[in-house]
Amino acid sequence: MAKGVYISKALAIATVVLTLSALGGIIVMVTLYQMEIARKPPRPRPSPVPTTPIPTGLPPTLRLPDNLIPESYEVNLQLYLYTKLPNATEQEYMFEGNSTVRFKCVKDTRTIILHALDLSIEQVTVTHARTRENIAVERYTLHNDSHFFEILLKKQLVGNGDYYELFTNFTGELLDDLTGLYTSQYTEKVNGEEEKRFLVASQLQATDARKVFPCFDEPAMKAEFKITIIHRRGTIALSNGRKDNSQFFGDEWIATTFAPTPNMSTYLLAFTVNEFDYKSEQHDGKEISIWARPEAVTAGHANYAKSITGKILSFYETKFNLKYPLNKLDQIALPDFSAGAMENWGLTMYRESALLYEEGVSSSSDKEWVAIVIAHELAHQWFGNLVTMNWWNNLWLSEGFATYISYLGVDDIEPTWNIRDMFVLKEIQPVMELDSLNASHPLSLKESEIETTFDILGLFDSITYSKGAAVLRMLSAYMGEEKFFEGLKSYLMKFQYKTADTADLWKCMKEFTHEEIESIMTAWVEQEGYPVLNINTTTGEIAQEQFLLKRAGDAGLEWQVPIIYMKSGSDLKKDVLKEKGPVRKPIYTVNDDGWLLVNINCSGYYRVNYDEQNWNRLIKQLESAHDAIPLINRGQLIDDAFNLARAKYINVTLALSTTKYLINETEYIPWESALKNLGYFILMFDRSEVYGPMQKYLRKQVDPLYKYFQEYTDNATVPTKLSDQYNQINAISVACSNGVTECTDMATKLFNEWKNGTNRIPPNLKSTIYCNAIAAGDEDDWDFAWKQYENATIATEQDVLRYALSCTKIIWLLNRYLEYTLDPNKIRKMDAVSTINYIARNVAGQALAWDFIRAQWSYISQLYGGGMTSVGSLIDDVTERFSTDFELQQLMQFRSEFDEDGLGPTTRALDQAIERTEANIKWVKENKQTVLNWFREQAQVH
Ligand SMILES: *[C@@H]1O[C@H](CO)[C@@H](O)[C@H](O)[C@H]1NC(C)=O
Ligand SMILES: *[C@@H]1O[C@H](CO)[C@@H](O)[C@H](O)[C@H]1NC(C)=O
Ligand SMILES: *[C@@H]1O[C@H](CO)[C@@H](O)[C@H](O)[C@H]1NC(C)=O
Ligand SMILES: *[C@@H]1O[C@H](CO)[C@@H](O)[C@H](O)[C@H]1NC(C)=O
Ligand SMILES: *[C@@H]1O[C@H](CO)[C@@H](O)[C@H](O)[C@H]1NC(C)=O
Repeated sequence: MAKGVYISKALAIATVVLTLSALGGIIVMVTLYQMEIARKPPRPRPSPVPTTPIPTGLPPTLRLPDNLIPESYEVNLQLYLYTKLPNATEQEYMFEGNSTVRFKCVKDTRTIILHALDLSIEQVTVTHARTRENIAVERYTLHNDSHFFEILLKKQLVGNGDYYELFTNFTGELLDDLTGLYTSQYTEKVNGEEEKRFLVASQLQATDARKVFPCFDEPAMKAEFKITIIHRRGTIALSNGRKDNSQFFGDEWIATTFAPTPNMSTYLLAFTVNEFDYKSEQHDGKEISIWARPEAVTAGHANYAKSITGKILSFYETKFNLKYPLNKLDQIALPDFSAGAMENWGLTMYRESALLYEEGVSSSSDKEWVAIVIAHELAHQWFGNLVTMNWWNNLWLSEGFATYISYLGVDDIEPTWNIRDMFVLKEIQPVMELDSLNASHPLSLKESEIETTFDILGLFDSITYSKGAAVLRMLSAYMGEEKFFEGLKSYLMKFQYKTADTADLWKCMKEFTHEEIESIMTAWVEQEGYPVLNINTTTGEIAQEQFLLKRAGDAGLEWQVPIIYMKSGSDLKKDVLKEKGPVRKPIYTVNDDGWLLVNINCSGYYRVNYDEQNWNRLIKQLESAHDAIPLINRGQLIDDAFNLARAKYINVTLALSTTKYLINETEYIPWESALKNLGYFILMFDRSEVYGPMQKYLRKQVDPLYKYFQEYTDNATVPTKLSDQYNQINAISVACSNGVTECTDMATKLFNEWKNGTNRIPPNLKSTIYCNAIAAGDEDDWDFAWKQYENATIATEQDVLRYALSCTKIIWLLNRYLEYTLDPNKIRKMDAVSTINYIARNVAGQALAWDFIRAQWSYISQLYGGGMTSVGSLIDDVTERFSTDFELQQLMQFRSEFDEDGLGPTTRALDQAIERTEANIKWVKENKQTVLNWFREQAQVH
């Protein structure tokens, strides 16, 4: 689907969420996938039917039989919704339509099986396409559990390749459930008055085209679609194709017909009816338009998207050697959208925050997000839309490519951002953490393992997106980018308008290199997890095993590992580790004062562990002249070390030692890597005696960084490099939250200036400065910020303030703020959970939030009855810090109350919280003294 942010919290035991800079620079996008999944219980398989010579009845699996092959559809949809309600008119939440699908019969059959869901189908006619003979229908049945629409004919169709036409007409409901065809509302100011507006949009991936019209709703069942939308006068309709014709239809209606689509999958269809405005430009004779609420377009919020879309398309066209296949591209920003965005062919849909950008108000990370999401959806126009996966088990061919390619696209249009370096922070590090749990899954599963909608939606996770992208990046580094792209061009050319699977990709790659690509890549794609390399630099011994946080017995997995390495800053060398080992390879030995660094630029998807001497020599190099070690590897060394320590490969003190050199580091990647990993230490220790020495250490480490950015901070100017902008946020967050008085004074001063009428806080810094000023401030400051929150007209500013209000240290203010979450007039319903989570993340608010959710449980769970996963995330976040026996007992107590009430998803979240708390207790027991000693020692060294 749709790029969303699938922070798979449920899986992550002891996940690191950084309290230091909670919002700093990172957009925390809440995903609705999880909710989506929770709402749809797994569909039971239909009961198998014994096979008969001429099959009738339902197929034995949830897959369509292969006897009928669709070729084209003609679909007419009449959408009754009013975009604005005339006086006293009732809104009409319904649509009706008809569809004719032309298909080929290649195997004898008496039943036609396709998909339909939640439609009431009124008429069904089957005609032989050439003879126009009407084939009588005996009966038809809509199976709600399997989504099959079964039509039993009076006579058998012969599988001789003849074409037939199936006509159906139907009605359906327009709900605000963000799936299928759905409605959504927003307000628009008209002469100073807020007026309600309605729109229809669609989200058909993965299996909701069947909710719009009966269809063969599987990705490989590609066909051509001729769409007509009948909509109210005064409204605009868009779909995948260019508007061909628009004519009045009765007194009240317009019928808009769209150019036929190319051969494509059903999940990529899109429909919308609205009163939006747009900005457009020509690209190679094709119109590219950005659509949004008229107010947003007038205010220029669509300008950035408009300015980059054509450029990214041109880059891809050159890189792939294939033109953008359609003759127009519409991109639309919707007020309500479940995922981040959706790549519908020719009509991509986005959340507003993923397409709209306001210069001077939105932050740099907002801008980066817009660029990344657009580049992702545009990459899909080739990867996914033009060449589609055979079946959802190979979803990574679509999402992995779009994720990887989007970095190249953004790098081309915004070369100063160095976005390709960020790949390691944004994709590799987070997904490696997930992929080191026993609950992970392979990138590509067996086709038979993915059947239900529930199975399919479960694949839209960071394994598919980020690991998919990481594995492609590894292949590209191994083959060389030029040859890699030769392979891609061949793949796109060969499979355009068709479908492909993973083996097809490897075959195309093989044409351009002498290596056995398939034998190297198979394990990365078909096995879950990834290896850690253990290297002894004295003997050159190297071995691999699966890296698991909770080490169980060795499952014997092995990979062919492409290696790029370097010795003491000399030239890069390449190797492939083909065996499990240990094997002795003299190339991995170093002499006494030299060091070995493996996995340069983190191009490989694995971790590396060395003998202690080599670790120490690397740390020494970092401390004496860190530039000798490539930037990305400075982040990698830290991230590997902390994770190796968690999995008990190395001592925690060794991991902590990789952060000592940060006192001389100004780059974002190493700092961010360290802060992410130290986040866990803060959660575990910020209520204990470890915290004092730890804060002292962090203060010392961050002081030079704070000074490095001070001129910018004091003058409210913005550093040129994007990564510097992000690291400035880190500098301020760490300095202020660890008691660097200069920092808190600065924050308080800027905040007071705002109270006196001028806000000159740059957008990037608002989140951290508001937060720290309120943390250092009093009731008066809080009330001022609350007023600002109430009056803010822009969602981004509201979000920043809503977070900042949670930063106060004053207990009664936090308590009152918690109470506000019960009042939808104060905190919107959709924001209540994240507000409580913010408060829980504040060490002063942790216990309050926990008491609060227990006391208000019945209200909270009723409020979110539909989306129990957000209640799950509430438990997940509020208990994140739990690491004492007392807290464990409280959790168990709470859990036992639920056993009686029998609240399913909540008990699951509680079970996970209990498991995590137990792991935390164990970790703290094992590490507390060592960590305390280490921080104390550091505080003494000057
Ligand atoms: C529309 O509503 C207004 C206020 O409710 C009312 O005064 C007016 O008569 C209505 N017009 C029509 C055409 O119903
Ligand atoms: C299908 O729907 C369109 C639009 O409502 C209508 O004009 C047409 O007559 C319908 N076709 C049939 C066969 O009912
Ligand atoms: C479907 O077609 C039948 C016969 O033409 C007609 O009576 C019925 O109203 C149609 N229903 C819809 C939803 O168009
Ligand atoms: C590396 O090899 C040397 C020589 O055999 C051995 O003494 C040492 O313990 C090994 N180190 C590790 C970490 O296995
Ligand atoms: C880690 O090292 C510290 C001192 O360097 C030591 O006290 C501690 O026991 C070591 N921990 C483990 C698990 O070996």
